[in-house]
Amino acid sequence: MKIAVLHGPNLDRLGKRQPEIYGTATLQDLEKLIRAEAKRLGFSVVFFQSAHEGALVDRIHALTDRGVEAFIVNFGAYSHTSIALRDALTASNLPAIEVHLSDIKKREKFRRTSMTAGACVAMISGKGFPGYVEALRQLARL
Ligand code: DQA
Repeated sequence: MKIAVLHGPNLDRLGKRQPEIYGTATLQDLEKLIRAEAKRLGFSVVFFQSAHEGALVDRIHALTDRGVEAFIVNFGAYSHTSIALRDALTASNLPAIEVHLSDIKKREKFRRTSMTAGACVAMISGKGFPGYVEALRQLARL
């Protein structure tokens, strides 16, 4: 299976950003972990990070046209606000799993709702990096 992992705004700051919430490992560390698990599962994986909502929308469409078969997404703060990203995932007609490193249900009120999770087959929240490994395994079972 060909999958794409999309990271939203500020996830490129992992390791430096609020380590008490997100830990001290970097986005490169996360991608290394994802790559290793994807290899075990026989998936090919591509990554894309952007702070720009439109760039993420454009990339969802481009990857869909290029034959990607599933998405793992963490749109960061856009998860809580972006109808455009939700629509882009819905338009792709592909399975997507949303991951949050922190437990969005246990944080500020404005983080408790995800606008984009409605376009996903599952949401994994509050498990840190292992949440991405779980997402890959869930996709393998689909
Ligand atoms: C996050 C949670 C969001 O509320 C926040 O804006 C992020 C990261 C997470 O992975 O826990 O940027 O998506």
